[in-house]
Amino acid sequence: MSATASDSIMETGTFVNCFLLVISLVIIPVNGGYDKERDALLKGTFPQDFIWSSATAAYQIEGAWNVSDKGPSVWDTLAHQDNNRDTGDVACDSYHKYPADIQLMKQMGLKYYRFSISWPRIFPTGEQQDGVNQDGVDYYNNLINELKANDIEPMVTLFHWDLPQALQDRYGGFLNNHTTNTTVIHDLFGDYARFCYQNFGDRVKYWITFNDPWIIALEGYGIGNFPPKHRDPAEGQYKAAHNIILSHAKAYHIYDDEFRAAQGGQVSIALSCDWGDPKYPDDPDTVEAAERYVQFFVGWFAHAIYKNGDYPDVMKATMARKGREEGRNSSRLPEFTPEQKAYINRTSDFFALNYYTTVEVADSGHIVTENPNYFSDMDVEKGHAADWPQTPFTWLYTVPWGIRKLLGFIRDEYGDPDVYITENGRPDHDRDPAILMDMDRICSYMMHTNEVMKAYSLDNVKVKAFTAWSLMDGYEWLPGYTVRFGLYYVDFNDPDRTRYPKASSVFYKQLVRNNGYPEGSDFTKYVENMWYFCHNTTEAEVNGYTGGASQISSPFSLFLAILGVVCCFID
Ligand code: BGC
Repeated sequence: MSATASDSIMETGTFVNCFLLVISLVIIPVNGGYDKERDALLKGTFPQDFIWSSATAAYQIEGAWNVSDKGPSVWDTLAHQDNNRDTGDVACDSYHKYPADIQLMKQMGLKYYRFSISWPRIFPTGEQQDGVNQDGVDYYNNLINELKANDIEPMVTLFHWDLPQALQDRYGGFLNNHTTNTTVIHDLFGDYARFCYQNFGDRVKYWITFNDPWIIALEGYGIGNFPPKHRDPAEGQYKAAHNIILSHAKAYHIYDDEFRAAQGGQVSIALSCDWGDPKYPDDPDTVEAAERYVQFFVGWFAHAIYKNGDYPDVMKATMARKGREEGRNSSRLPEFTPEQKAYINRTSDFFALNYYTTVEVADSGHIVTENPNYFSDMDVEKGHAADWPQTPFTWLYTVPWGIRKLLGFIRDEYGDPDVYITENGRPDHDRDPAILMDMDRICSYMMHTNEVMKAYSLDNVKVKAFTAWSLMDGYEWLPGYTVRFGLYYVDFNDPDRTRYPKASSVFYKQLVRNNGYPEGSDFTKYVENMWYFCHNTTEAEVNGYTGGASQISSPFSLFLAILGVVCCFID
């Protein structure tokens, strides 16, 4: 796709098209899963200091996988294991193009950027004693300085899945000696965190220790699809999670003891969670099963960190029973010592939440199996309602009201913390021609941010931030470049990795500028017109995906809607 083509699309707007948009949307019938009361548009704004942000992760965008002394990470290893696999070798080449990326954020009016530091770019083997890669340190210093020069606050994740390969080889990564107090991996993570606080903490005020430990533990050490591909579905995820929680606590205490007074920042851990909605809400067993699902998911980490230093009671009881039924001497869920519980308890300054989807949960009764795993351990059945819009990911259905319910759960369960939404987004397929008119993504951001506003204004959840995942298309882990999450399109066939604005970046800019959905604004009027369309559309219709049922009455309406987006928001 050429820049000229994209420019001409972006210049198409006229008042007439805006008018047609409105007319066309009026004739789209309401159907699908729309619930008039639950899904109504709330007008209003977020508080003045609300944080609008976008996020990326090092391995997904940086490239430069082996420049200077950078060491390989477990993702470099996996990506190079077979020739057919996409790699992050170049990715978006953000290592070289970061100043341009910062301008993309500026164009959208963003004041915050969440990115991650690559541990093996700083310490090639993961251990400081083996040497520091000064070029890597310079890179992050330059990135942070450039952000600050552009009035953008960095929020820095220390670990977004790219474990130094040497730590996996030497110590078994997060499986290292998980039951003792003196596990090497905790100390090494602590050293790395300390180095980052020392070198960047004068300018970085928001730290995230781990991104989505649920995935690291489950996919990396239980199911074994993600690197380091350790397959031990019965126990691996529980051992790894145990170590991650302790490593997080270590990094938190180091900040607290050595840096907080001078640097005045905050530290958290980004937890992902599906909302678990009871399939039969009037049935107490189903309601319990749905709660169990959420406790096994976010509670696995959050209960210890926010409540009492230990795993949720329901998780401990279920796992103890399973252990007995399986004839084991102890539960497959490890135990924290009293000292460890005290050490872990309350090691977060705010709740960092990644939300993507909701599942419908029912009670499965006690699952007895010779091959126990994390999902059978929960004793639930999970699925989705037939009218939830599907995305290219089989696990990701667009269920905006789920984020409001989850935020309510967090408020009640974890003592009403400040909540920063550190990721929310929506994928589409990699297609030719490129999808620049990403209506699905616009709809998704529109609906999710409105539900977040309901949580803030109606439910009094202390939501402080919304972060769009992602600033630009990147390396989407196992699916590589076949799935795109960006507000900006990246042409991965172009040696320059040119970025192009998608319509969603223009929408996001207006959302940020309006700080929500103020009564009477042109933006809110546009949103009102789009509201029913968004609630009754799936990727099947908008982007031509053939895997789902169409609900759009008129392709002409869709065409006009797209034109309307272009003309209403380009300035
Ligand atoms: C991860 C991102 C990833 C996204 C979609 C999130 O949990 O943090 O790195 O791109 O899921 O798969």
